[in-house]
Amino acid sequence: MTPSQLVAPTTVTTGPAIWDRVWRHAPDIEKDEIRLAREARGRRWAETVRFLTVALGELRGLRTIELGSGLGDLSVLLARAGADVTLLDYCDKALTLARQRFNRLGLPATFARADFLGDLSEYAGRYDVALSIGVVEHFRGAARTAALTAHRAVLRTGGAVVISVPHALCPTYRIWKTYLQFRGWWPYGLEIPYTRGELSRRARCAGFEQVRCQAFGFRESWSEHVLRGLLRRDVGVDDRASRLDAALGLVLMMTGIAGGRSCPADDVMKLPDGRGSVR
Ligand SMILES: C[S@@+](CC[C@H](N)C(=O)[O-])C[C@H]1O[C@@H](n2cnc3c(N)ncnc32)[C@H](O)[C@@H]1O
Repeated sequence: MTPSQLVAPTTVTTGPAIWDRVWRHAPDIEKDEIRLAREARGRRWAETVRFLTVALGELRGLRTIELGSGLGDLSVLLARAGADVTLLDYCDKALTLARQRFNRLGLPATFARADFLGDLSEYAGRYDVALSIGVVEHFRGAARTAALTAHRAVLRTGGAVVISVPHALCPTYRIWKTYLQFRGWWPYGLEIPYTRGELSRRARCAGFEQVRCQAFGFRESWSEHVLRGLLRRDVGVDDRASRLDAALGLVLMMTGIAGGRSCPADDVMKLPDGRGSVR
């Protein structure tokens, strides 16, 4: 999150108005380059490349779609690797900024304005890869599974999914989020992080097979959420692997393969903590 995103609170908890505020300013070009360079050398991209290469072969020529793309960080890296990328978002401002970014970088991409919880027939079954970063945690209850099902809907059978969300067990993320909410500075509205169990159950319910969830970025969460807050300036992000990554890492990344079926409408899953059932 950039300082310009630390804004006065809004009463809206989810929906396009939140994202219009988040994306109201174009990012500083130098900071944007740093953000992309960090993503390019980070574990998420390394794991994405490893997974997609094993699942589908080389990245060049793959048809990919990023849902809730925002500026499309992973799509930039995929486009650089020769993939045919589509960025889908329902926020006009996000798409405008993403288009400017791709133009500046000289990368080709398709930009689609759509609500992925709405009618996806135009995109259904057309892609080899569906991905999202920081998107499916902005929903509650059944809409969480629906957001995962949207990733399945745009994929051909056998296509690959990569979904990255905040990890519910990362202590620094929880403290940082609580602090920002307490001060009224939290800009993202509703955001409910995932446990490994919830994400993999919902992914299977959405029709994914060979589902795997891994967590990482424990050190990164300290530099991102603690040191930066205390020092009140950007600090070099320490993204080396840690033995605590699997248990307490910041990033929870799910990979899977689009199978032939998804949950029937009346399927009910038990929440891991037994608090009730969800779809
Ligand atoms: C937290 S941002 C993540 C953006 C980007 N993936 C990143 O990591 O910077 C969530 C994005 O999802 C988009 N979004 C949320 N719900 C959506 C929906 N139902 N359909 C399309 N886009 C949606 C928002 O407009 C926003 O750009």
